[in-house]
Amino acid sequence: MIRRSLGELYESIREFFVATDDNGEIIGCSALHVFWDDLAELKCLAVSEKAHGQGIGRRLVEACMRSAQELEIKTVFTLTYVAEFFEKCGYHRIDKAELPHKIWNECVRCPLFPNCTEIALVRPVGAEPALVGAGHSYETATL
Ligand SMILES: CC(C)(COP(=O)(O)OP(=O)(O)OC[C@H]1O[C@@H](n2cnc3c(N)ncnc32)[C@H](O)[C@@H]1OP(=O)(O)O)[C@@H](O)C(=O)NCCC(=O)NCCS
Repeated sequence: MIRRSLGELYESIREFFVATDDNGEIIGCSALHVFWDDLAELKCLAVSEKAHGQGIGRRLVEACMRSAQELEIKTVFTLTYVAEFFEKCGYHRIDKAELPHKIWNECVRCPLFPNCTEIALVRPVGAEPALVGAGHSYETATL
């Protein structure tokens, strides 16, 4: 994940969803950044280690997907090292070269640019998440 200054976080605070525990402590976040009228990025997904494996990451993904749907965006993409997690959330891999050039603006600040090995995945908005893990029941209420 790219380091962000406090200033950048305040500027983009409205893009964020957070998950909180019973004490109100933030235990996870995700963000949806709109690039164009038909394209947005799901970014900044992280769940506190102590809360891993409880379906919180999946709910944070779904919160972003619902937001994209409300904005009538057609496609959400993500760049990640945990492609398997996103595949379980209904995303599929694509060649990074298929993404428009404008999305790389932020990447030039990353020390790994241009040799990053992140994997690009997309999910059409409105598509049901993959039924991998069927049998689990995940809340989809607003976080
Ligand atoms: C990746 C991450 C967000 C997952 O959060 P989580 O709350 O533990 O995930 P969930 O409990 O919602 O898991 C949903 C499904 O994905 C699977 N999964 C979770 N983490 C996974 C991983 N790293 N690799 C593959 N599958 C994973 C779970 O087993 C579960 O599968 P199931 O439905 O078959 O049971 C969390 O591990 C994290 O914050 N990692 C560090 C930051 C990071 O890598 N962020 C990714 C964006 S760049």
